[in-house]
Amino acid sequence: MGKDVIIACDFDGKEEVLKFLDKFTGRKPFVKIGMELYYSAGPEIVKEIKARGHKIFLDLKLHDIPNTVKKSMAVLSKLDVDMCNLHAAGTVAMMEAAIEGLTRPDGTRPLLIAVTQLTSTSEERMKEDLLIEKPIDEVIMHYASRAKVAGLDGVVCSPLEASKVKDVCGKEFLTVTPGVRFADGDVGDQVRIATPARAKEIGSDYIVVGRPITQAEDPVAAYERCVNEFVD
Ligand code: C5P
Repeated sequence: MGKDVIIACDFDGKEEVLKFLDKFTGRKPFVKIGMELYYSAGPEIVKEIKARGHKIFLDLKLHDIPNTVKKSMAVLSKLDVDMCNLHAAGTVAMMEAAIEGLTRPDGTRPLLIAVTQLTSTSEERMKEDLLIEKPIDEVIMHYASRAKVAGLDGVVCSPLEASKVKDVCGKEFLTVTPGVRFADGDVGDQVRIATPARAKEIGSDYIVVGRPITQAEDPVAAYERCVNEFVD
């Protein structure tokens, strides 16, 4: 499994995302399609981007009863995406059902990654709103290990948590890490951040980079800079 840079294509609609991807005439980046774009442009946008030669991380964070998740994952698998995700909070039974649904008749399937706790959820919110009393780091590592038990491939986490996840779940368990910023770039609303080079040192397998590339004056150069720091 090679390390790679995934561009978070957080655009409102089809035209914007395709215009953005038109800039990449050489290497075709791995792209992340989130709820916003998927709900506005539908499965067609996934097929179109795939047909252009990009790998796709479909970030829809499924969380429902096992049977519904299984059937929904079967639909996503037919879209031929390369990576998709769900909430580990759905329990091991839901995660196992998701894998069943994702697995194609020939035994192949997209990578399946778990969200542990959203970065927008603080320890205080977890206690008061979710009645989870344990320290947030312990909760995240527990959810990661349950994802591993269910047979998932990895988790989404901060680059700063990547080495701890590997300690708990093993070296092969993938860490997909947003919260990446260049040393000389805008931090924006991200808090627990690392540069691509630092994310590589800590052990991320995939970095998810949005605005530092999509809002750059030269997005292709910003992407190449990420690749140079993180992959090469
Ligand atoms: O623009 P930026 O580099 O901050 O984009 C990061 C991407 O990763 C966004 O699509 C954001 O929704 C996503 N993400 C995140 N933190 C998480 C999970 C996903 O920033 N914990």
